[in-house]
Amino acid sequence: MHSLRNSISKRIYTSRLSSDKCAREWKDLYWKESDGIRVISCNECPKFIAEDVRCSVPFGSPIRKCVTAAQEANLHSLSGKDLLEIGFGKHSIPRRLVKSAGGTWTGIEPLLPEAKRATIGKSGFGHVADIPFPDGTFDIVVGIQSIEHWGEPLPVASLKTGHAAGLEDIYRVLKPGGSIYFCAPIYLHGHEIFITGDIERVRQLFEPLPWNNIRLELWRDKHLPLERYPTPGADAKTWEQAVSSYSRELLDDILANRSVSLLTIKANKSTDH
Ligand SMILES: C[S@@+](CC[C@H](N)C(=O)[O-])C[C@H]1O[C@@H](n2cnc3c(N)ncnc32)[C@H](O)[C@@H]1O
Repeated sequence: MHSLRNSISKRIYTSRLSSDKCAREWKDLYWKESDGIRVISCNECPKFIAEDVRCSVPFGSPIRKCVTAAQEANLHSLSGKDLLEIGFGKHSIPRRLVKSAGGTWTGIEPLLPEAKRATIGKSGFGHVADIPFPDGTFDIVVGIQSIEHWGEPLPVASLKTGHAAGLEDIYRVLKPGGSIYFCAPIYLHGHEIFITGDIERVRQLFEPLPWNNIRLELWRDKHLPLERYPTPGADAKTWEQAVSSYSRELLDDILANRSVSLLTIKANKSTDH
């Protein structure tokens, strides 16, 4: 019953999203650029309702609420844009946002049958290190809760996977000056640098290529007065397999004291390429 209500709330909510509405709602509260990493605490987020002490995104776990809020905040000015989404799974808020702005959404997903080809404006099979489009095709490439999983085994074996190969191929398909937006949970699952919240190593993933204006944000790390969201036990069980460069003490400390947070990453392709 709860999940039925959740999915109805999600459908109603996402059907009302538009890139223009998001830009209006977040403008004065949000767009202050800063160097380094910007922390967005729950009580300064427009989705926080102070009187009821709750987040107004009506569906999802605490981190999923942030995933939605962060997309609203970051995916705007999409009018007429060609957007590629990497690893969209089953649901896509970027599709709604870019289409409402008169742009084009294309998605690739490695769990689709290989025979389902992706074409511009439609979804199909593809993975981040082998994007089935020519150089300089897209204005923006996004990945929602996907980057932390690149490099994990896929049903269809590929020669190159992982962050270096993935970011290289994304760079290739972006137009000069084009942008990226990724979000990933911290202290939850996936690659060890996301499990341990090693922001410096996340930043280093982007160093091999001339990305401009790299901007990182941390959402829900300062969650008060909302509740802490500890790592669920099922996710913690995956840590033994994924973590090799960090100590057990660090993992125990994360389990005991940290709240699952959301990292967002934005950057632009250089205009000279
Ligand atoms: C946690 S799911 C998120 C799905 C969806 N974006 C969402 O927010 O609900 C992670 C997604 O990343 C995709 N993924 C994993 N490895 C990938 C890769 N190498 N290239 C592209 N997508 C990948 C998975 O197939 C899956 O759809």
